[in-house]
Amino acid sequence: MDIFVVEGGKKLNGSITVGGAKNAAVAIIPAAILSGDVCTIENLPTISDVNVISQILVQLGAKVNKLSESVIEIDARNMDCCQVSQELAKNMRASYYMLGALLGRFGRARVPMPGGCYFGVRPIDQHLKGFEALGAKTGLRDGVISLTAEGGLKGACVPLDVVSVGATINIMLAAVRAEGLTVIEHAAKEPHIVDLANFLNSMGADVRGAGTDVIKIRGVKKMHGATYSIIPDQIEAGTYMIAAAATGGDVTINNIIPKHMESISKKLMEMGVEIYEYDESIRVTRSGDLKACNVTTMPHPGFPTDMQPQMAAAMAIARGTSSITEGVWENRFQYVAELKKLGVQAEVQGRVATFVGVDHLKGGHVKATDLRGGAAMVVAALVAEGETAISEIYHIERGYEQLIDKLVGVGACIHRKTVSDDFK
Ligand code: EPU
Repeated sequence: MDIFVVEGGKKLNGSITVGGAKNAAVAIIPAAILSGDVCTIENLPTISDVNVISQILVQLGAKVNKLSESVIEIDARNMDCCQVSQELAKNMRASYYMLGALLGRFGRARVPMPGGCYFGVRPIDQHLKGFEALGAKTGLRDGVISLTAEGGLKGACVPLDVVSVGATINIMLAAVRAEGLTVIEHAAKEPHIVDLANFLNSMGADVRGAGTDVIKIRGVKKMHGATYSIIPDQIEAGTYMIAAAATGGDVTINNIIPKHMESISKKLMEMGVEIYEYDESIRVTRSGDLKACNVTTMPHPGFPTDMQPQMAAAMAIARGTSSITEGVWENRFQYVAELKKLGVQAEVQGRVATFVGVDHLKGGHVKATDLRGGAAMVVAALVAEGETAISEIYHIERGYEQLIDKLVGVGACIHRKTVSDDFK
């Protein structure tokens, strides 16, 4: 297996360019099949989740050509299969976007229950509620979700009971080809929801209100191919902002949308970090001590749950006591036990984690418990004195492109090493 080895204690200095947004890419690639035509998707991140969702399309009969590192062409004209294989579905959460996309295109879908990071129970009742409201019959047998809409899909009002990114996306995917008007109430407002709506509209769909909590979708009979460039990754950018702040460095992060970074910038400024915003970049620098702060994660525009583990790594060395209250997932603190191995003083009680800042972290051996928990290990290891080995890095590589190159480019000492499977 491969691990990351980090020699910590170096201030990051220089500039990093972020890639396309993972959570937009994994929705937009399935959405491309709705056109029944050829689409070109640009600014894709080079991460394993994008490879897996592309392989799913190939398995369903689409042609996917890689035009460059970050551009693919999807030819969905001759697709014939509506059943996603268990092997591919279990590798990622977003495989379930094939439910909405196949239902919208063909009126039927069979997709095994998805994989992805474990944060406690991850129900999909709101997705199914939406599909049923549009007239689909839903079933679950031997771990495979099946959807059929023999009479075609019909627009409907879908008031979500919880604000769900995944359910909002899946219902949008199915509704663009349904007959009549669909209204999603209590919709999620994340930047990737807006990005998906823009992509669907560029293929001829009629989606309005994305980015607010009511999305209206008027179904269209025909869609067409399009060329579309994905938004920058808010969470990748935020992770490097925190890495710069935690190491006391001075880093400019390029290819970002500053508006998407507001909730993160605000908290970092509260911690004493200096932030300078430009049109498409942001500079993060710190000279004084980090100050403690309290964070509560919320759906957008609140502080993103996908940033709380990285924030914990900064809180670990801030002056005073900080806390994180997790407002989205029931169990997203598995990573805390790993951070403690580096000297982090923390306690978890239910959905609240408390961090008492210490002067120094020390290197050790930790594992990535999930994607963002893994990113927190990287931030903590960059701060820690001595060497840290991070195992189970496949979690991290699902969502961070060229992490080593980008960090080495700003002065970090990090490399990849192959070790035996029983490495302890
Ligand atoms: N929920 C339900 N029923 C549902 C769907 C969700 O009760 O049918 C609950 C969940 O249990 C959770 C809350 O609603 O408590 C929010 O879940 P949501 O559906 O918004 O999450 P998701 O779509 O499964 C996406 C991201 C996650 C990110 C969350 C929240 C993708 C592929 N995943 O997950 O990203 O944490 O939104 O912002 O877009 C990551 O990138 O590391 C990651 C985990």
